[in-house]
Amino acid sequence: MRYAQITGWGKYAPPLLMTNDDMAKIVDTSDEWIFSRSGIRQRHYSHVSTGEMAWLSAERALATAGVDADDIDLIILGSTTPEEICPNTASYIKNKLGAKNAAAFDLNSACTSWFYALNTATDMIKAGSINKALVIGSERISLAMDWKKRESCFLFGDGAGSVVIEAAEEESGLITAKMSCVPDSRECLRLPTWGMSPAHLTGDMYISLDFDGAEIFKSAVKGMSDAINDVLEKQGITAADIDLFIPHQANMRIIQSLAKRLDFPMEKVVVAIDKYANTSAASIPLALCDALEDGRVKPGMTILTATFGAGLSCGAGIIKWGDRVEPVAISDKSIPEFDGTVFDLMKDSFTHYGVDASHLLTKGKG
Ligand code: ACO
Repeated sequence: MRYAQITGWGKYAPPLLMTNDDMAKIVDTSDEWIFSRSGIRQRHYSHVSTGEMAWLSAERALATAGVDADDIDLIILGSTTPEEICPNTASYIKNKLGAKNAAAFDLNSACTSWFYALNTATDMIKAGSINKALVIGSERISLAMDWKKRESCFLFGDGAGSVVIEAAEEESGLITAKMSCVPDSRECLRLPTWGMSPAHLTGDMYISLDFDGAEIFKSAVKGMSDAINDVLEKQGITAADIDLFIPHQANMRIIQSLAKRLDFPMEKVVVAIDKYANTSAASIPLALCDALEDGRVKPGMTILTATFGAGLSCGAGIIKWGDRVEPVAISDKSIPEFDGTVFDLMKDSFTHYGVDASHLLTKGKG
């Protein structure tokens, strides 16, 4: 039997932070309100593209795996925010890595994109059609924030996370998975102008998230619990057999409701939403990288993951960790930092959405 072991991991969290207090300077909100409703304290905003963030996280994952880019057969980028739709962003990453033998495609199922991509690549390795893959989640979602919507603009952040998976004989990697999509829940979370519908092709493009928070909350908890119960049953184990739970990081209260419903202790749950907010497709690989850096992932652990995103797509999986939790090597690649503050970075976005932040600028005022 072939498995697809996770042998490398890498992340890129852009250096500029937008804290809740920063946000309160441009939106009628407060740190207290945001933290109590969502568990978010800050988010990272990127000065580089989704592809660039993805590339650096992938370089770092290749180094921790000790794998050459040449040996990668497939690169899947999970993302809702590619720079362009055509050509795909995975081919940009392929070229920048010098992964000359890799096929490359993007996969978009919103926040579940990385998990859907991991399951797809794992099944291809198990089937024997490829041996090594890079699975990346990367999002620059800050540019889709409508600063006139205080009910949603605080929820998201930017970042990227990657894993390398390789064919292995020992039981490891994503050993059981369930991908699903909750029926009749397409309308509760949308970026309605982010696409090619003829209706959008007139006037200025104005991307603005539409969502029904209460409906998402309900569907997410139900969709993830159903998927989790499915994988636990398929694997013949119970929640008590899980060593670590790494859920999608959309809202602390969703994570707590899910843990409560499964009777799962919060001490075993990886929480990163306070640092990153919701980074969509990057949220689980970012949290996984943090758990590895913090020494929370131990050799042979049984890890549960669960996710949901627009669609409402859902999923859950059980990951059996291998023997190694230390990097083979550390990449020396980097991205030059932005010269300015987070307000300088977001200047054009504030203007686009009609918010006056000129008093906060340190560069090119006005
Ligand atoms: N600051 C201060 N007050 C605010 C803010 C804000 N940023 N946003 C809304 N309010 C006000 C509202 O105006 C409202 O005031 P009112 O009672 O005077 O009318 C009040 O706070 C309550 O607003 P609600 O929208 O009902 O707030 P709620 O408690 O539902 O919390 C939240 C909003 C956190 C988004 C919640 O709905 C939620 O957790 N939803 C699920 C998660 C989610 O939607 N995530 C989006 C990403 S989905 C994904 O990852 C796939």
